[in-house]
Amino acid sequence: MSLYIILMGVQGAGKGEQARVIQETYGIPQVSTGDLFRAMKTRTDPLAQKIQQIMAEGKLIDDDTTNAVVEDRLGQDDAKNGVIFDGFPRTPAQAAWLDQYLEKRGAHVNAVLLLELDFYTAFKRSFGRVKSDATGKTYNIYFNDDGITEWKFVDHPQNEYPPRLRAVESTGGVLSRRPDDANAHAILKRIDTFRELTAPLITYYEQKRPGLLVRIDADQSIETVSAAVKAAIDARN
Ligand code: AP5
Ligand code: MG
Repeated sequence: MSLYIILMGVQGAGKGEQARVIQETYGIPQVSTGDLFRAMKTRTDPLAQKIQQIMAEGKLIDDDTTNAVVEDRLGQDDAKNGVIFDGFPRTPAQAAWLDQYLEKRGAHVNAVLLLELDFYTAFKRSFGRVKSDATGKTYNIYFNDDGITEWKFVDHPQNEYPPRLRAVESTGGVLSRRPDDANAHAILKRIDTFRELTAPLITYYEQKRPGLLVRIDADQSIETVSAAVKAAIDARN
């Protein structure tokens, strides 16, 4: 039987962290539209370039492009028994598209897990996130700095760009920020976009089927949130 899980939550709520944990437990892959779009950054065609610019500003990619990218991913072999959606759907049009896509295949969304987090903490989770380009490991200067030997904000001498975060892993590797995390305006824009376009999906899924949407307090340790996520998936209807 197939399993389709949606992880929903404001930027920094921990969708990526939790998706990585769930995919190991349930043997279905994480489908992160953000990761899929970021993977296009080496492409030089106009669409891929435009997508990188829209993301850096913290705005959403249009629904048709997003749905097409998801459709392509869902058609891959490892996705045939289901997936964990991380950051999709994010608009009512994307949710409607997904329902229709799954219905045609005799499947449906099994659980929508809403990771609830206040916007102040969400801002810090994004602003403080750094990643190793070499290993892909993620840290956070505010919440998860075990393994970071030093970090500091560095000003440009003529203030030509906002202060940059320099962080170094204990192995000596340089840690970098996503462009949309390095820009405070882009983080605020993403939070606003969540409130305006994605939050209406909470009511959409609550009304779709009782118990489909489960609220989880994301302001707890990663392990505690994982336990709540697993309990919600196991109790799915
Ligand atoms: P996307 O990549 O999805 O970014 P996002 O939604 O802004 O979410 P984040 O990845 O920032 O947060 P997260 O919830 O995954 O948090 P994480 O686990 O990393 O999207 C980027 C862009 O792509 C969008 O702005 C848009 O342009 C485009 N896009 C993507 N999907 C789209 C769609 N469907 N439609 C249109 N456009 C789309 O955790 C954050 C930090 O907190 C980490 O440092 C982590 O270590 C830490 N942390 C996590 N959990 C905890 C915890 N419990 N305690 C302490 N620290 C924690
Ligand atoms: Mg993420």
